[in-house]
Amino acid sequence: MRSLRDKRVLITGGAGFIGSHLAEAVLGEGAERLIIADNFFVGKPENLNNIKNRPDVVIYKEDAADLHAMEAIVRKEQVQVVYNMATMALNYSFFNPHTAYMVNVRIADTLAHLLRNGEFETLIHMSSSEAYGTALYAPMDEDHPLNPTTPYAAGKAAADLLIKSFSNLYDLDAVIIRPFNNYGPRQNIDGPLAGIIPAAARRILRGEKPVVQGDGLQTRDYIYISDTVRGLISAYNRDIRAEVINLGSGIEHRIIDIIEVICDFLGYKGGVEFQPERNSDVKRLCASSEKAKSLLGFEPDIRFEDGIEITLDWYVNKIKDEEE
Ligand SMILES: NC(=O)c1ccc[n+]([C@@H]2O[C@H](COP(=O)([O-])OP(=O)(O)OC[C@H]3O[C@@H](n4cnc5c(N)ncnc54)[C@H](O)[C@@H]3O)[C@@H](O)[C@H]2O)c1
Repeated sequence: MRSLRDKRVLITGGAGFIGSHLAEAVLGEGAERLIIADNFFVGKPENLNNIKNRPDVVIYKEDAADLHAMEAIVRKEQVQVVYNMATMALNYSFFNPHTAYMVNVRIADTLAHLLRNGEFETLIHMSSSEAYGTALYAPMDEDHPLNPTTPYAAGKAAADLLIKSFSNLYDLDAVIIRPFNNYGPRQNIDGPLAGIIPAAARRILRGEKPVVQGDGLQTRDYIYISDTVRGLISAYNRDIRAEVINLGSGIEHRIIDIIEVICDFLGYKGGVEFQPERNSDVKRLCASSEKAKSLLGFEPDIRFEDGIEITLDWYVNKIKDEEE
């Protein structure tokens, strides 16, 4: 097995939810230098509070799709490994579908070119279960057809195909990790791009009803942030190439049940506001993690019942701090 010890690692989107947790884990692996490239679209400097003053960390406010900017960073920092976490949230598709699609494709294109040109050695590219669309069968393995239902997801699927084609054609060291729904501290809580769990917590703590779009019977496969990060680190350590690998729990949760868990945790009994179904909403997601188990030795550690408590505790404290 190889390791990130003494490696120079770049994370695009490293100021976001998953990227910032990954950044701490990469440093924990003994990386020589951690480089973050984030345009701070929703990423936040405070997500990097635990690491930003370290001498081995450098943060660039840059567009990861900008070939010249990324080439300059990769050369200056002598980057060896890139984790591509940058994206604009799924919900941004409803406001600006063109950019939501293009950003995923353009960043993948930029990184694929730099990898092909030998500017760095290894690309670990973050896909999403949204690329599959609604489950045609469950659990969903990596051979499940790609049926994206939003421009965000179409951009994710296109980016994956782009990376895969480069990887095959030029025999590159690239792997595609396809996580299902992540949850945990630091997921974006602000405005219309917030995740379901933080958005519901914020509304309840403000005395508003949490919102459910549609009947709430849609299912999601939730994976806790520390499990995802462990899978991402293993994807480097195990030296896997040209594969797509799901990360999920294999357990389906209905959205309405997630909201109920949040209401119970917060002691809220005020009911739910049902809004019309989003016409592009994915109805069912449930991961097969067999490939992750065999190739990465990966199995999730954190049970939903435990992860959701840690998550909600974190949001309660954050929201209280903001109000003080
Ligand atoms: N959160 C989930 O449930 C989930 C599930 C599956 C896959 N993913 C994928 O994981 C990755 C990280 O997601 P996240 O939940 O941390 O999202 P996030 O929105 O918290 O983080 C994305 C980061 O990318 C940055 N960014 C956006 N456009 C950029 C650009 N052009 N250049 C540089 N930075 C840019 C944002 O500012 C943000 O910090 C994404 O690729 C996402 O598609 C997330």
